[in-house]
Amino acid sequence: MFDIQEIRSQFSILNRQVNGKPLVYLDNAATSQKPDSVLEVWNKYYTELNANVHRGIHTLSQLATEEMELSRRKIQKFINAKHDFEVIFTKGTTEGLNLISYILTQKLKKDDEIIISYLEHHSNIVPWQLLCERTGAKLKVIPIDENGILQLEYLDQYLSEKTKVVSVNQVSNALGVVNPVEEIIARTRKSSDAYIVIDGAQSAPHFQIDVQKLDCDFFVFSGHKMYAPMGTGILYGKQEILESLPPFHGGGEMIATCSFEGTTYAALPFKYEAGTPNVGGNIALGAAVDFIEKVGHENIQKHENALLEYAQKQLLEIEGLKVYGEKAKRAGVVSFNLEGVGIASDVGMILDKMGIAVRTGHHCTQPIMEFFNIAGTVRASFAVYNTFNEIDLLVEGVKKAQRMLS
Ligand code: ALA
Repeated sequence: MFDIQEIRSQFSILNRQVNGKPLVYLDNAATSQKPDSVLEVWNKYYTELNANVHRGIHTLSQLATEEMELSRRKIQKFINAKHDFEVIFTKGTTEGLNLISYILTQKLKKDDEIIISYLEHHSNIVPWQLLCERTGAKLKVIPIDENGILQLEYLDQYLSEKTKVVSVNQVSNALGVVNPVEEIIARTRKSSDAYIVIDGAQSAPHFQIDVQKLDCDFFVFSGHKMYAPMGTGILYGKQEILESLPPFHGGGEMIATCSFEGTTYAALPFKYEAGTPNVGGNIALGAAVDFIEKVGHENIQKHENALLEYAQKQLLEIEGLKVYGEKAKRAGVVSFNLEGVGIASDVGMILDKMGIAVRTGHHCTQPIMEFFNIAGTVRASFAVYNTFNEIDLLVEGVKKAQRMLS
């Protein structure tokens, strides 16, 4: 049974006050709060297990290694990867995307093409621009309509034998728009051999992910948006693809043999895990997966969709309030502005005085803001512990901001 109070009781931080008011945390797309179970696992690692992994024969090292590899297997199951060694620990989505764009360098040449979309976060734009600079490849961008919906006929037009990479997010961080990645993958596979990269930073916290069913080549996401500590993330890549590509960082753990004459590389996943990993964080990411699975994907999605629908309905009753992507299928986010009243950050500051945390600004998606001809939006984003009462407080706060700023 889904018991919101029981869920909230697992997040100590939700008991705190901000500016003398109970915290209403609606900035989950930036980072989610962490349940006590995750913090306990993280704390236990540092108080009872702390040792480097894959390096020691001593007991602590072996225990830490076992825990981290157990976490890897939990994540393998969580995204339904075929093998645990296809799950690479990273610092987060940004590192994952930079890693992929770097290791693909040798696969692209002048005038090849990389397709992304207008809805991408800067971290799914800039690494590809850097790849274009290194190789002479060109970037093609799938446009959106006034609802933030991708115009897939452009994907069909763009796809050709020149297409080497298609990289899109599953859910837009700025608008919450859910992209039809299944359709994008099917169309891409039909007309090109491009590598397909899915940015799951904003979908992994909300949806059940099945990388085998999706048939993407790479899938990246961050731990900190799905109840795990910051500095954690996952890069999934298909075995044969990761094996065929060069390493990213060089250093300890990623070698099989190292000599001045030449170095050979370790098998997956270690080939892509140079240096000491974030062992405590990676173990705690496994605990975050346990938390999500205990609550249940279906419950999470149902609750968050109900919150989103309720929030949008209430907000749209405010005169002059515009929701971006209003008619698109969305997940976890409502992004809006009060037309003709101050700027988004003014609204955000007034909400903050009421203990309500939202993000304001361009959300690291300047092309989307340019498309709508705005500097930024107010973005409320939801997690499983948010309540309808918190939405009421948000709506009340937005009305107050409108009165104050008019
Ligand atoms: N990418 C994060 C956001 O959307 C930080 O807020």
